[in-house]
Amino acid sequence: MIIDGKKISKDLVEKVKDEVSKIKKNGKSPGLSVILIGDYAPSQIYVKNKEKLAKEAGINSEVIRYPKEISEKEVLKKIDELNDNSEISGILVQLPLPSHINKEKIINAIKPSKDVDGFHPMNVGGLASGTTSIVPCTPLGCLFLIKSVEKNLEGKNAVILGRSNLNGKPMAQLLLKENCTVTILHSKTKDLKTECKRADILIAAVGVKEMVKGDWIKKDAIVIDVGINKDNGKIVGDVDFESSKNIAKAITPVPGGVGPMTIACLLKNTLECFKKSNS
Ligand code: GUN
Repeated sequence: MIIDGKKISKDLVEKVKDEVSKIKKNGKSPGLSVILIGDYAPSQIYVKNKEKLAKEAGINSEVIRYPKEISEKEVLKKIDELNDNSEISGILVQLPLPSHINKEKIINAIKPSKDVDGFHPMNVGGLASGTTSIVPCTPLGCLFLIKSVEKNLEGKNAVILGRSNLNGKPMAQLLLKENCTVTILHSKTKDLKTECKRADILIAAVGVKEMVKGDWIKKDAIVIDVGINKDNGKIVGDVDFESSKNIAKAITPVPGGVGPMTIACLLKNTLECFKKSNS
């Protein structure tokens, strides 16, 4: 089975859209501000897609664009302004940032209640301690996809390939909350293939094209591919789709798997931030 991220994300966007239209009847609206610095091509595409889908869902969205030479101070000033603006429910600073801007400083400056990425230490801590918090969009999207195949994940061996703050670590927290037995693999792991082969649920988030081969996958595993890698003008994932698709019970394609879910979850997070600040 191929997991249709496009369809599942569309359903989620529709749900957000319905709620937003009800909110609008009361004269209010969730607002999303995206800060985009520099001209890194993939970020331009991601942000364009985020803006397009936010508009489709009826969320007021604005993209604030800065040249790559912008000072850290200017960006911090803008974040302060957005923190204090009651029309803005969510703030997202697109990563990566130019090297003269300190990523931690920027993330820490965003008001935790408006941090739609869930990257602020308050939200990271909230997720780790099991209290309610904003969950990063990509792992949240992955969980939706896994649950579209299987609702009860209790006792499953979940193996995550990659330990980034954006994906691997929050993914581990989410699956732990689902009562999975969670293993995180990384570049120093001794035998990646054997460890992957133990997975009932395998999440590949390393950014190495087609690294996971069919013979790394346990029969009937659920395989979620977070990778977006360029291969001769084509986009491919971290999993070798052709050799894996008949071994896995369910697998996400690239493109059309995790990608659309990330944006749908961003809209969901924006709506949640709005609801919390208006309750
Ligand atoms: N760059 C790549 N993915 C992301 C994301 O989920 N959030 C932000 N802010 N930047 C990114």
